[in-house]
Amino acid sequence: MKILTVACQKGGVGKSTLAINVSAAFALMQSFQNPEDPGRILLIDMDKQHHSSKTMSGGVFGVVDEEDNTKPTLGKCLTGKSPLPLSAVIESSHLPLNNEDKNLDYIPSHYSGMQEAQNFLNMDTTGRFRLLDLIQPIVSDYEYIVIDTPPDLSIMTDNALIAATHAVVPIDLQAFSMDALNKTLDKIEEVQSHPRFNPELQLAGIVLTKCNLRHSEEIEWRDILVEQYGDLILSPITLRGDVHTAQTQGLDIFSYKPPRDPEAVASSNLAAQEYAQVAEEIKERIDR
Ligand SMILES: Nc1ncnc2c1ncn2[C@@H]1O[C@H](COP(=O)(O)OP(=O)(O)O)[C@@H](O)[C@H]1O
Ligand SMILES: [Mg+2]
Repeated sequence: MKILTVACQKGGVGKSTLAINVSAAFALMQSFQNPEDPGRILLIDMDKQHHSSKTMSGGVFGVVDEEDNTKPTLGKCLTGKSPLPLSAVIESSHLPLNNEDKNLDYIPSHYSGMQEAQNFLNMDTTGRFRLLDLIQPIVSDYEYIVIDTPPDLSIMTDNALIAATHAVVPIDLQAFSMDALNKTLDKIEEVQSHPRFNPELQLAGIVLTKCNLRHSEEIEWRDILVEQYGDLILSPITLRGDVHTAQTQGLDIFSYKPPRDPEAVASSNLAAQEYAQVAEEIKERIDR
């Protein structure tokens, strides 16, 4: 069982998109490699903006979900308000659409409950370790757990990094993003170097997202990062309309069929190929 946290201090760099598509890719890869016993994948959404869990639930964007106070939520599990196990808030996703195993589960997040949980955890000396404790009873049920995080280095990201075996940092090739990359890598180092946090945490890689490698400026940034981080830099993911459209339709990239080629299988889609490649590289590293 491996736990992969997707973290970056900056918003809009493609964290949630990566978390969704890596989870979907892992689900498909497990089904393909072990058809008899594909195992299960879990995506935990630690971001109160709940973009990844909204996709997993087939939710409609632009509509405010009413939070049902009577139901168990991740926020309530995190605050420990009632003795709620995490298993009470696990849902099964309809994605990826073309996978009959339906082996992808997710834990949704809700805005106000997560905000409340964040405030609570900040006041608690053991607040950083709450997710680690909560996942213990369920880790053996999953081959891979992927955790999406908010665009900051708050206590929610701390929880996700302390609970993880591996971290991956998505970043786009913009000047403003380089600061966020450094801050995120510093945070990972802080978690690794503190004996009570997570010395076992490994950085699986840095994913260059939303790339337009026809721009000389982006090529320069890519070269600088490759020079600095070597093989930690995974295969780049190109900025493509298909990724955006899939998201608008509430689909992972493997479930999305580009309109101009309705007969094509998903794997002929360039965006799907790139996410599959990155997911394979990540899987290869975290399986070591
Ligand atoms: N490879 C890509 N090509 C095109 N658009 C992308 C790509 N990756 C992400 N996006 C878009 O960028 C926006 C931000 O992505 P998101 O995954 O929500 O970032 P974050 O979780 O880091 O805030 C979304 O609108 C998403 O559809
Ligand atoms: Mg996000």
